[in-house]
Amino acid sequence: MEAKKVDHNHEKDKRLIERENQYLASAERINYYDLVIDSAHGAVLKDVDGNEYIDLLASASAINVGHTNDLVVKAIQDQAEKLIHYTPSYFHHEPEQQLAEKLAKLAPGPTPKKVIFGNSGSDANDAIIKFARAYTGRQYMVSYMNSYHGSTYGSMALSGVSLNMTRKMGPLMPGVVHVPYPDLYRTEPGETEHDVAVRFFEAFKQPFESFLPADEVAAVLIEPIQGDGGLVKAPEEYMQMVYKFCHDNGILFAVDEVNQGMGRTGHMWGIENYHDIEPDLISVGKSIASGMPLSAVVGKADVMNSLGSPAHTFTTAGNPVCCAAALATLEVLEKDSLIEKSKRDGEYAKERFTEMQSRHPNIGDVRMFGLNGGIELVEDQETKVPDADFATKVITYAFEHGVVIITLRGNILRFQPPLVITREELDQALDVLDDAFTAVENGEVSLPDTDSKIGW
Ligand SMILES: Cc1ncc(COP(=O)(O)O)c(C=O)c1O
Repeated sequence: MEAKKVDHNHEKDKRLIERENQYLASAERINYYDLVIDSAHGAVLKDVDGNEYIDLLASASAINVGHTNDLVVKAIQDQAEKLIHYTPSYFHHEPEQQLAEKLAKLAPGPTPKKVIFGNSGSDANDAIIKFARAYTGRQYMVSYMNSYHGSTYGSMALSGVSLNMTRKMGPLMPGVVHVPYPDLYRTEPGETEHDVAVRFFEAFKQPFESFLPADEVAAVLIEPIQGDGGLVKAPEEYMQMVYKFCHDNGILFAVDEVNQGMGRTGHMWGIENYHDIEPDLISVGKSIASGMPLSAVVGKADVMNSLGSPAHTFTTAGNPVCCAAALATLEVLEKDSLIEKSKRDGEYAKERFTEMQSRHPNIGDVRMFGLNGGIELVEDQETKVPDADFATKVITYAFEHGVVIITLRGNILRFQPPLVITREELDQALDVLDDAFTAVENGEVSLPDTDSKIGW
């Protein structure tokens, strides 16, 4: 495809959205810009008016192996012809058995694992609460500020990233204590990574020293790399200290891999960006079935044996078509060496963004872990004051020039293309972003009319 300004004829888009506004509740969607997707393949989207876009979002990191991947499509078609669904709540089917075995073997660490399926990342995190409480006989959960774990009552209580996701719906599930997630960008003067790790570990311990008895805490749930919080990675030393603290206090160590798992970070699991950590519980979703509705919790067998039937069952969980899609997705990840590609292309993208940073003073921080990055836009590199207007203008320009990218926390570009993106597409998209930075600097881009409603 061509990297030129999209001749935005959005007639069909506009008509559809007008009608949709009559019938679809607004709580479903986070507003960025009006795009009505008609079809997609690999890393390219086509809208209903025939405009093409390079996708730097991968359906919120749900399409790691690319849109309409041939093998995944074939697996879905073949399975749909045989059996679309029979609920695993009552009987068995082969795709579920195969996938459970595969995931149990893929999870990090030598301890035997078991798997339970659900329909969304949110319900997987609810399951983590259930299993952690059942296994430990304890009530409290510890999670992180700026984390996102989902939209059900349990998972939203664990989250800490957006007032709009909790407003008017409280009280939330009690028994959750949030601690701050380490930030290596906005540090205190002269601090090293070690200092940051120690400072945030002290903050982690504070509740345990003042109001939260450690022997009443069931689990700590952490994103190995915070996704919706802005693609932020905790220091290795911090993660090891929390892991050890959990171990020493009989607290389960649980990781949310919904956003960062499945090869996204250049490793199969986000937690593999750290050394020798074997989580007790892992939640998985999004890319596991290439966007088909499927989630899973993979946990140590003893922990998973702590609940009996039917403590966590959904009619459509472990759907055979979704399981077939997941098996094919895992096959593609391996066959096409996409995890290695994510690492390699992530390094390349980081180099390019870092070079842009030397020319564009509004690029404050470039964080990249695999093809998986947060580009933080600020008023200037010294003050690090977030510049959401700049970021909104960048994504507006990108959209108008055939690149789909959104922001997190207002000022952070969310860079998560399908891992299959070609080098040519990647270069093209990065060139558009480079041009976008220049155009915004030169005052050539205005904020969209919907600006006040953009983002989370
Ligand atoms: C880290 C993380 N956990 C859980 C979820 C919730 O997943 P779902 O939207 O499938 O319920 C998300 C979704 O963005 C996520 O990023």
